[in-house]
Formats: sequence, C-alpha cells, structure tokens
Amino acid sequence: SELMTNNIIWYDSHITKEDRVKQLSQKPCILWFTGLSGSGKSTIANVLEVKLYKMGIKTYLLDGDNIRHGLNRDLGFSKKDRTENIRRISEVAKLFVDSGSIVLTAFISPFQRDRELARKLVKEDEFIEIFIDTSLEICEQRDPKGLYKKVKEGKIKDFTGIDSPYEVPINSEIHLKTNELTIEQASEEVISYLKRFNYLK
Ligand code: PPS
Repeated sequence: SELMTNNIIWYDSHITKEDRVKQLSQKPCILWFTGLSGSGKSTIANVLEVKLYKMGIKTYLLDGDNIRHGLNRDLGFSKKDRTENIRRISEVAKLFVDSGSIVLTAFISPFQRDRELARKLVKEDEFIEIFIDTSLEICEQRDPKGLYKKVKEGKIKDFTGIDSPYEVPINSEIHLKTNELTIEQASEEVISYLKRFNYLK
C-alpha cells in the first residue's frame, strides 16, 4: 500500500474475491431454489443450510423473511414486480458470492427469463439451479400457510400456479422430486452435488 503524506490519501491493497476464497474451504456459489408456493423450497434450503453450517461452511440464506419484508417491501406479485424482485435478489446474491459465501435463495422465481438473467450475473459454475418439483395438487393439499384456501375463496389473485404462471425449469442442475424424497434425502442430494463438483473442499 501507498501513503501520500500531504493529502493523506491511502492506497490500500484491495482484497479481491480470490483473496477471500483462499481463506475458506469452499467455492462460493448460488444455490437457486425454484418451485411453487408450498413446494418445500424454504424447508429444504433451511435443512441444507444447517448441514453446511455444521461442516463449517460460510453460507447465507435469502428468502421471503429477509427480502420481501425489507429490501423488496415495495414489491407485490404482478409480473413486473416479480421480475424486479428476482432482479434485486440476484444482484444481492452476487454480492454474497463475491464475499465468498455459498448463498441459498428460496423464491418461487416463476419466470425462466428472470432465472436466466440471475444465472448470467455470475460465472457459469457459480449458479446451481435446484428445481423443487412438487405438483400443484400436493402443494394445495399441504397448504402450509393456508394461501391456496384463500385463493379458492377469492381472497388472493395472481397466485402462482392458479392464475399466474409458473414456467417449469428446463436446465436445472438439480431436480428434486419431493414425492419421492424426504427433506433429509433432498438436502443430502445437494450436499453430494457440492462435494462431487468441489464446492466443498
Ligand atoms: S416470486 O414469484 O419469486 O416473486 O415470489 P416470492 O418472492 O418467492 O414470494 C412468494 C411467497 O409470497 C406469498 N404470496 C404469494 N405467492 C405467489 N403468488 C401470490 N400471489 C402470492 N401472494 C403472497 C407466498 O407465501 C409465497 O411463499 P412460499 O414460501 O413460496 O410459499
């Protein structure tokens, strides 16, 4: 670093992403969960984050609790707002990747184009799309937040899978069929993927 005495300007050596990653025993990436409301995105992402935490991995989970109540509190569920929701989330996820974290995002992210834009923000191997494949019928049966019931009663409109589209992913790195897997197995599949492709060193 360089120091200029008269005008007191410091030229500190800049810590790069590579420097941050060297300190860690992980390769940063975004684990991008996508799926219908009630499909199990948040549940699986949370179980997975606990597993990674216990392995000493630096993670950060972005989901509705910290995003739609904070940064994106001005956004609703129109197509335009969902697109802006996902755009901001992808930019934030990119920042966390720069910090060296393994970032988990758990949003419906119903539009293929928005997911593609998120993917293009980072390096090719830094974006891992995880399709939580749960049928609408199962999501309606589970109805963990009672939202499908409200939709039926006409209390919510533009609801994903009902009167707002969900574009099924076509190029997910990981496809989890939740009718065939427990939450434990689903999160283990992601861990295996991360080990196989050296995200966990
Ligand atoms: S999106 O489409 O990616 O912008 O949606 P997301 O930010 O993930 O927010 C989805 C959660 O918001 C609740 N909610 C709705 N979902 C879909 N459509 C409508 N109209 C809607 N209104 C409220 C719902 O609880 C979603 O939570 P999850 O965890 O997905 O069930």
